[in-house]
Amino acid sequence: MKALILVGGFGTRLRPLTLSMPKPLVDFANKPMILHQIEALVKAGVTDIVLAVNYKPEVMVAVLKKYEEKFGITITFSVESVPLGTAGPLALAREVLGKDDSPFFVLNADVTCEYPFEKMRDFHLAHGCEGTILATTVDEPSKYGVIVVHDETTAIDRFVEKPVEYVGNRINAGIYIFSPSILDRIELRPTSIEKEIFPVMAKDRELHTFDLEGFWMDVGQPKDFLTGTCLYLSSLAKRTPELLAPVTEEYVNGGNVLVHPTAKIGKGCKIGPNVTIGPNTIIGDGVCLQRCVLMDGTHVKDHAWVKNSIIGWHSSVGRWSRLDGVTVLGDDVHVAEGVYVNGASVLPHKSISSNVCEPGIVM
Ligand code: GDD
Ligand code: MG
Repeated sequence: MKALILVGGFGTRLRPLTLSMPKPLVDFANKPMILHQIEALVKAGVTDIVLAVNYKPEVMVAVLKKYEEKFGITITFSVESVPLGTAGPLALAREVLGKDDSPFFVLNADVTCEYPFEKMRDFHLAHGCEGTILATTVDEPSKYGVIVVHDETTAIDRFVEKPVEYVGNRINAGIYIFSPSILDRIELRPTSIEKEIFPVMAKDRELHTFDLEGFWMDVGQPKDFLTGTCLYLSSLAKRTPELLAPVTEEYVNGGNVLVHPTAKIGKGCKIGPNVTIGPNTIIGDGVCLQRCVLMDGTHVKDHAWVKNSIIGWHSSVGRWSRLDGVTVLGDDVHVAEGVYVNGASVLPHKSISSNVCEPGIVM
C-alpha cells in the first residue's frame, strides 16, 4: 500500500523548536513525530511513503534513509517549488499514488492518535466510494474542518473548513484514505483539499466518514503539543503501561511518566503526572516536574520546578528556578539560578538571568 504525508512548510507555529529541527523530527514522547506515523503505516502494510515538502532539509533526508532500511520501505521526497496546499501535492505525487488501483492514505503530519489504518482500509473498501475521512469530535470546532453526515449515515453531506458559524462538532482528524480516481479531480496547482475538493466530493456522494475511537490532537503548536503528550501518555498507560516509569518508583507522582533509559534522576524528586524525559537528560535532586517535556540532553538542576513547559535540546534550568505557563526553551537555552519564567518562547542559544513574568518571545 501507499501513503502520502503532508509535511508542509517550516512549522512556524511550533517555534522555537522548529528553528533547530524540522517539525516532523521534533520528538513527541521521545520519538520523532513522523516516526509514530511511519510505524503505524508500516504495521498496516504500507511500503511506499511520499513526503510532501516545500523544502528538503539534509537532516530529514538522512534520518528517513535510516527508516527506509529499518522497515524495508521506500520513502520519496516530493518537493514543491511553490506551496501546493493540501491537495496539490497529491497531483505532484501522481506517479507513485496512481501507479496501481489500490487505495492510498493521506496524513496531516501534525496529528496524533491511535492510528486506525487497517480498520479505515476495510471500511473504505466496503463502501466502495472515492474517499474516507477519519473523524473525531471536539468542543471547539471552529479551527478545524467540520463534517456533516447525511441522515445519520456515514455518507458526508457537507464539509465546511473552519466554519464561522456552528455546523456541528464532528471534525476532520486530518487522516484520509482515497481511491486513485480522486487524482482526476486534482490539478497540479496550489489547491486546498478541504475547501476545493471535499465539498465537491461530498456533493457527488463520494465521501464517507469513519469515527476515530480514543484520543486525538493536532500537535502543531506548543500548547496543543503538551495536551497531545498528556493524551498519548494516558493511552500508553492503558495499552502498554510497561513502557512508562512504574508508579511504585519513588519519584513518580500520579503516573504517566515516560523516562528514557539513559536519563539520570536525582534524589527526592517529584515527577508527574504527564512528563516525558528524553535521552541523556540529567535531573538534579528535589526537582519537581509536572506536565512537561524534556528533550535530549537537557539538564534540570537541583530544586527546580518545571510545569506546563517544553525544554528544548541541550538546554538547562538553574537551581531553584521555576518555569510555567507554556514556556518553551529552544535548543541550547540556559536559565540561571532562582529565575521565574512564565509563558516565554525562548529562541535557541539564549541565556536568561532575570525573571520573565509576562508571556512573550525572548530573543
Ligand atoms: N506539502 C505541503 N504543502 N503540505 C502542506 C501545505 C503545502 O503547501 N500546506 C499545509 N501543509 C500540511 C501541513 O504541514 C499539515 O501537516 C497539513 O498540511 C495541514 O495543514 P495545517 O496548516 O496544519 O492545517 P490545519 O491544522 O489548520 O487544518 C487541517 O487539519 C485539521 C486537523 O488538525 C485541515 O485538514 C482541517 O480540516 C483539519 O480539521
Ligand atoms: Mg494542523
